[in-house]
Amino acid sequence: MFIKRKMKGLKQVMNEGNIHVASTITMCVVMVFIVFVLGTFITDRYKTVIIPKDLYFPQFTVVTKTRFSSIYLCHKSSSSSAPSPTHVVQFTDSTGYVDLWHSMSDKELIEKAIRVPRTSKHTHKLAFMFLTRGSLPLGPFWEKFFEGHEGLFSIYLHTSPDFNYDPPNSSVFYKRKIPSQHVQWGKPTMIDAERRLLANALLDVSNHRFILLSETCIPIFNFTTIYNYLTNADKSFLSSFDDPRKIGRGRYNKRMGPIITLQDWRKGSQWFEVNRELAVEIISDKMYYQVFQNHCLPPCYMDEHYLPTLVNKVHPNLTTYTTVTWTDWSGGKSHPTTFMRKDISAMFLNQIRYGSNCTYNGANSSICFLFARKFHPNTLEPLMKIAPSLFGFSP
Ligand SMILES: *[C@@H]1O[C@H](CO)[C@@H](O)[C@H](O)[C@H]1NC(C)=O
Ligand SMILES: *[C@@H]1O[C@H](CO)[C@@H](O)[C@H](O)[C@H]1NC(C)=O
Ligand SMILES: *[C@@H]1O[C@H](CO)[C@@H](O)[C@H](O)[C@H]1NC(C)=O
Ligand SMILES: *[C@@H]1O[C@H](CO)[C@@H](O)[C@H](O)[C@H]1NC(C)=O
Ligand SMILES: *[C@@H]1O[C@H](CO)[C@@H](O)[C@H](O)[C@H]1NC(C)=O
Repeated sequence: MFIKRKMKGLKQVMNEGNIHVASTITMCVVMVFIVFVLGTFITDRYKTVIIPKDLYFPQFTVVTKTRFSSIYLCHKSSSSSAPSPTHVVQFTDSTGYVDLWHSMSDKELIEKAIRVPRTSKHTHKLAFMFLTRGSLPLGPFWEKFFEGHEGLFSIYLHTSPDFNYDPPNSSVFYKRKIPSQHVQWGKPTMIDAERRLLANALLDVSNHRFILLSETCIPIFNFTTIYNYLTNADKSFLSSFDDPRKIGRGRYNKRMGPIITLQDWRKGSQWFEVNRELAVEIISDKMYYQVFQNHCLPPCYMDEHYLPTLVNKVHPNLTTYTTVTWTDWSGGKSHPTTFMRKDISAMFLNQIRYGSNCTYNGANSSICFLFARKFHPNTLEPLMKIAPSLFGFSP
């Protein structure tokens, strides 16, 4: 009896103890939860407050690993050190490659480029100017496109200055990087990069036509067709039109007057193709650039308005007012469609190649576009499979 009671009492004590332990645990769990929730909230706030959106990596980091692309994707290979910007002006290294690296400031570079002859019997090359963030995921497709046409083209790469990777010496992109600066999309630094590319390309007197491209662009004809189309064209292909909407005229700022009036204001594609004469005119401009730099701020995007307005105002006879780079804006969004692996077919490519009517040197033509964008890195494999035979790239 006594033992029984004692046992009962013990059980009670244990039960009370259990309850005590349980409530302590519950309280701990609740507190940990509160701390966790609070912590997450604070970190999130902290992130949005101190990390500007620009610092997040761009979306194109998902890249299919194909045999072709591997050499283009090694961001910052540790062994390759970028040439230091203290090197002297253009020189040929021991292997015979012209090194495009130099230490000129943009001002010196442009002053030098303006003095290079505008016309010469030696001008016969196409300058392909790539404005990229870093790697060229579709580089192998371009390599195939250029194959067998050495001497008829030059390549210039403007990348992020942090991008140090140099492809092997067998690549057409080997040592084709120009001294570059940070670029913010839609801002004056973008125009600076375009002018830098033009000026560097103008230094080579054999460059005749100048094409601005991005890492998402592809050629849609073979080299011979593109070469003949551009070298025989009597005008440049820089698009420029009057868009009466808010996203056109609505971006005009009265303070740009009287130098630029609403009647002068134009919009157009950033992706241009210009001849030597217009290239020199573009890099020579200081007055209009200044006005844009001061008064064309987001939601006015300098890359969509500066050149279209400048060329319309100052050199209206030098362009066809159209671009040769096809883009699909049919989605109605602020960014054009990006095409993926599943989109690539002969029918799709031929639709871009021949699906339009335009005039070329005053005659009707069904070839209106020579390049197209935007193509995701995962289109490389299907493009390599069908396009070389469809376009007739050299074997
Ligand atoms: C190209 O690079 C390879 C290996 O890095 C080297 O053996 C070869 O000599 C180089 N060729 C030229 C022309 O520089
Ligand atoms: C443009 O061309 C037209 C006709 O060919 C000519 O009358 C006009 O003067 C030219 N304008 C400029 C700015 O060269
Ligand atoms: C282009 O012109 C040809 C001949 O005039 C016509 O048959 C064709 O339908 C036109 N294509 C487009 C996309 O307008
Ligand atoms: C060009 O096409 C337009 C309409 O598509 C037609 O009216 C014109 O006659 C054509 N010009 C030539 C030179 O074929
Ligand atoms: C290049 O393209 C043109 C037009 O598409 C074609 O007529 C020509 O045969 C092609 N060249 C080669 C080498 O296949």
